[in-house]
Amino acid sequence: MPQIFPRSADMWLRLALLILFGGLVGLLIVVMVLDRSDYISRKGWVVRQPVPFSHEHHAGALKIDCRYCHDSVETSAVAGLPPTETCMSCHSQIWTGAEMLAPVRQSLAEDKPLRWNRVAELPDYVYFQHDVHVNAGVGCETCHGQVDTMPLMYRGEAFTMSWCLDCHQDPAPRLRPREAITAMGWSTELDRREVGQQLVKAHHIDTRHLTHCYTCHR
Ligand code: HEC
Ligand code: HEC
Ligand code: HEC
Ligand code: HEC
Ligand code: HEC
Repeated sequence: MPQIFPRSADMWLRLALLILFGGLVGLLIVVMVLDRSDYISRKGWVVRQPVPFSHEHHAGALKIDCRYCHDSVETSAVAGLPPTETCMSCHSQIWTGAEMLAPVRQSLAEDKPLRWNRVAELPDYVYFQHDVHVNAGVGCETCHGQVDTMPLMYRGEAFTMSWCLDCHQDPAPRLRPREAITAMGWSTELDRREVGQQLVKAHHIDTRHLTHCYTCHR
């Protein structure tokens, strides 16, 4: 057989294949890491808002209860964002001339709601209800993080499917008494699992169906 390619061609071909293969594996790793990263899930990323509203200030320092502004959280699927009137219940008296609050005054004058950019949001194909969770004893903090320390709001948890399922498989140790639903930094001296198991009984929580696909995808 006459030799068409020089002997070294074989080596170059192997090398090219090796580089191609290495590149593909590398790309796969990058995709896999990104898929789990906070960049994709937006966990911890501050969202810009029309007014730099601070939860650290209002919920933390001033200790205004979450339900003063998110008033449908115990009774409906959505927590609700406060109308401009809620802000004005205080800001018609304090910081009335502040430049920072100009969009709030404008919103009231023009009767146009402030357009807050969403921070915690699920894709449309996922079904979620606040009332069932809050009434079962899942605290805001468990899903949204230490909101009272956030000057600007960011996502405290990644809201991936596995995060939901982790709790749905075994909610007991993550439950708290209803009085502590909006408390931040809540803890108990008692055994958390025991406290939770009592709550599971008291609230008649049936955990058997919680991991079925149709619970969250209907
Ligand atoms: C219960 C009273 C109350 C309500 C309701 C309230 N605020 Fe405030 N807000 C305050 C006080 C008090 C301050 C702080 C003034 C200070 O300490 O200098 C403040 C400060 C601010 C500031 C200045 C930046 C900061 O946080 O220090 C902004 C902006 C602001 N509020 C926006 C809002 C918006 C928007 C709403 C409605 C969603 C709202 N506030 C509802 C009492 C309130
Ligand atoms: C004085 C009113 C006020 C109080 C009190 C308050 N919030 Fe808010 N909250 C807002 C406003 C206004 C927004 C929209 C702007 C933003 O994202 O910061 C918001 C946004 C949020 C969001 C993000 C919603 C989204 O998807 O965009 C969460 C989560 C939240 N609040 C949780 C809480 C919790 C938990 C508490 C109690 C610890 C609380 N809030 C107390 C006014 C308030
Ligand atoms: C079991 C987890 C969980 C708990 C507990 C929880 N949230 Fe949420 N919250 C979510 C999820 C998930 C979303 C996004 C929902 C969507 O996009 O359909 C959300 C969205 C929000 C929003 C914006 C959209 C809306 O529903 O109006 C606010 C405000 C909010 N939560 C406040 C609260 C407050 C206040 C509490 C406590 C009283 C609380 N949440 C308890 C998971 C939770
Ligand atoms: C920390 C615990 C916890 C987390 C996190 C959590 N859940 Fe739940 N969820 C519960 C508990 C407990 C119940 C049962 C409430 C009951 O039966 O009274 C429940 C019930 C539900 C229900 C109602 C089921 C029915 O009875 O119809 C839906 C829907 C749901 N969860 C969706 C979600 C989604 C989507 C997520 C993630 C974004 C999530 N949950 C995260 C604890 C949790
Ligand atoms: C406790 C709630 C919950 C249950 C139960 C659940 N899912 Fe999901 N699922 C979610 C959430 C939340 C997302 C969105 C994840 C995201 O945005 O990263 C999701 C996303 C998905 C997606 C989109 C692709 C992806 O992974 O992002 C598919 C497909 C899916 N779920 C299938 C299923 C199947 C099949 C089951 C039953 C075995 C199931 N889910 C049970 C909450 C749930």
